[in-house]
Amino acid sequence: MGSKYDLAIVTGGSSGIGKSIIEDISKLEPAASLFNLSRRKPASFSNDSKRVHLECDLSDKGSRSRVLEELERKISASTQTGSILLVNNAGFGIYGGVESNSPCDHLELLEVNVCALVEITTRLLPLIKERGGAIMNIASTSAFQPTPYLASYGASKAFVLNWTLALNEELRGTRARAIAVCPGPTRTEFFKRAGFSTRVVPAGYSHHPEEVSRLALAALENCKSFTVTGTLNKLASIFSSLLPLSLRTRVSGKVIRRFRPNPHNQ
Ligand SMILES: NC(=O)c1ccc[n+]([C@@H]2O[C@H](COP(=O)([O-])OP(=O)(O)OC[C@H]3O[C@@H](n4cnc5c(N)ncnc54)[C@H](OP(=O)(O)O)[C@@H]3O)[C@@H](O)[C@H]2O)c1
Repeated sequence: MGSKYDLAIVTGGSSGIGKSIIEDISKLEPAASLFNLSRRKPASFSNDSKRVHLECDLSDKGSRSRVLEELERKISASTQTGSILLVNNAGFGIYGGVESNSPCDHLELLEVNVCALVEITTRLLPLIKERGGAIMNIASTSAFQPTPYLASYGASKAFVLNWTLALNEELRGTRARAIAVCPGPTRTEFFKRAGFSTRVVPAGYSHHPEEVSRLALAALENCKSFTVTGTLNKLASIFSSLLPLSLRTRVSGKVIRRFRPNPHNQ
């Protein structure tokens, strides 16, 4: 990346992929100010003026609105006026049949995975266009097909992928751009949070969050509009996209039923 950004804002930097992205940005952009939005504070943050944790529950509209006002105040008070990198990474999944989760659980997921991403991006977009910069949205390989037993999650990531690609197209000719990152299974807190009680992905099929961060930042550097991280994930997403939608959905349901614990008991 090489000292392009004066300011980086990351959501969900307290663990997993977001934590690795924060660590990488800190190395690549040592002079940049870094803001993290999540409920827990990243372990590496001591709250000096360059590494600021803004505690926020992104599923809560009030909490989002308070923190965005504070973020905007801090940005305008800063002496740094260069490019901005916004990384919308926070997100989670809920596993099980649609009926086995409450309406509140589905809506909480949509608030974090979709509404927060749209709100933060649209609010900061005028500033990012004015100062130059990029928006990196973390989608998933789940975006390429409907995902039975992870129905809301897959649909939320399809939104993130399509919305980001559309936004990037709209940004042509401006000083800003957007990239959607589609990781496959990654060894983070994600699966435990989603409600899986056992290890669900064989080690050979999953990535370290450090690897996902490195590939995501390389794709940003190469001005890609989207990237699928890892060769196997790339091949799987191409294969999936070739199938008719109804068949894609059946195959996806079969794969999830085969490799995951009984979804009906979740
Ligand atoms: N792991 C995978 O296999 C995988 C694959 C494809 C895509 N992804 C995507 O990658 C992104 C990062 O996930 P991860 O795998 O790194 O999982 P993770 O380790 O569970 O990290 C999720 C992050 O999101 C934050 N977050 C969740 N709910 C939040 C809320 N209500 N308010 C504020 N922050 C919230 C968490 O922070 P707090 O808990 O501190 O609030 C945490 O920092 C997600 O968008 C996920 O969908 C993951």
